[in-house]
Amino acid sequence: MDKIRIKGNSDLFGAIDVSGSKNSALPIIVSCLLSKNDLILKNIPKLADINSMTKLLQSFGASCVYNNNILTLNANKIENNIADYDLVRKMRASILILGPLLARFNKARISLPGGCAIGTRPIDIHLNSLSKLGVSFVVENGFVEAFVEKELVGNEVKLTFPSVGATENLLMAACLANGTTTIKNAAKEPEIIDLENCLNSMGANISGSGSDQIIVKGVKALNESTHIIMSDRIVAGTFVILAVMLNKEFVVKNFNPKYLVSLTNLLKKMKANLKINKDSIEIRPSEKIIGSFVQTAPYPGFPTDLQAQIMALMTIANGSSKIIEKIFENRFMHVAELNRLGANIKIKNDTAYIEGNRVYKGAQVMASDLRASVSLILAGLCAEGETTVNRVYHLDRGYEKIEEKLSKCGPIMFRES
Ligand code: EPZ
Repeated sequence: MDKIRIKGNSDLFGAIDVSGSKNSALPIIVSCLLSKNDLILKNIPKLADINSMTKLLQSFGASCVYNNNILTLNANKIENNIADYDLVRKMRASILILGPLLARFNKARISLPGGCAIGTRPIDIHLNSLSKLGVSFVVENGFVEAFVEKELVGNEVKLTFPSVGATENLLMAACLANGTTTIKNAAKEPEIIDLENCLNSMGANISGSGSDQIIVKGVKALNESTHIIMSDRIVAGTFVILAVMLNKEFVVKNFNPKYLVSLTNLLKKMKANLKINKDSIEIRPSEKIIGSFVQTAPYPGFPTDLQAQIMALMTIANGSSKIIEKIFENRFMHVAELNRLGANIKIKNDTAYIEGNRVYKGAQVMASDLRASVSLILAGLCAEGETTVNRVYHLDRGYEKIEEKLSKCGPIMFRES
């Protein structure tokens, strides 16, 4: 299994470009199932999850050609609509094929995705909301059998929680439904705006993404389109936090900082020295970073996907900090590993109490999930001595060749198998 070795007390200089967003690309890639024409996607990051999703689509008979960050998809010749356990269990986002398959075929058979390191990841909101469009479900033997008597019919659907995936599944199903669907209490994440923009470029009729009410007027068919995937705000936020931790002058560019306001507000409260531009953030050394409090929340609240990373920074800030994780029930897998690196973090239910003024000391640590792994990389770069992060396949799910990209900006880190 791959590992990454990191030399501590790292330097950091220059600038880094942010790649395309994993969490925008995944639902948009799946939306090719809604049409019989080419969907050409640009700025697609080279990530394991993207690979898994294209493999899943190819198992249905779709064609997926990836070349130099451009992915050309065509689902004209879909042969089957059964998503098998092996492919689905590896990636939760596979559940996003449910809506498009129902819109295209009025039926689908999908393995229950199952849980993962950060939580049980139920799909009740997905199923309940799709049932409002006329879908019936039978859940047995670890599979979801979904079918529609005649056709999907538009309806008003109020989500019990602004689930990102459930909003995306519903949005894609409603595109080809008969009539209008109103999604209330919709997730407001920027990735949903990107999905709306892509679907509308294919001929859908959607408005309101980014707000908690989305209106979808069903159309007969979708057409060929080309779409550029938005930049990854979580990867951008990760690199901003790293520069603050190392207290170095650095620029994170090629993304829209307005999608990271909850992070930049928190970092300013912690006395970080930031200059926010139209498509980049400049980090400058700060006299003193101080501890703070943050609670994760649906967008525009503080993203759960940056919780492990901000915790790594809080450990070396002046004074103690507190984080409450309100989105996933088990997203503190990085705590034990950060403590191995010299942190002193205690967990009580959904709250992490972080002692400040700690000094990281290099050690062997184990990655457990995508964002936990990157928090260990950040800590390792700040540590005294060398750190080895094991099981970095977790990292490769969401960070495109991180050791190559960062090594160009000063860090000494390399992969070992
Ligand atoms: C998306 O997951 C992201 N993944 C996650 O990023 C992100 O952490 C999450 O949204 C929250 O922002 C992708 O976009 C591929 P949810 P998703 O449905 O859609 C509960 C990463 O690191 N829930 O908004 O699965 C659920 O258990 C990943 O890139 C139900 O109870 O998130 C969780 O507690 C990790 N029933 C909460 O809602 C449901 O039917 C938020 O889940 C659906 C969700």
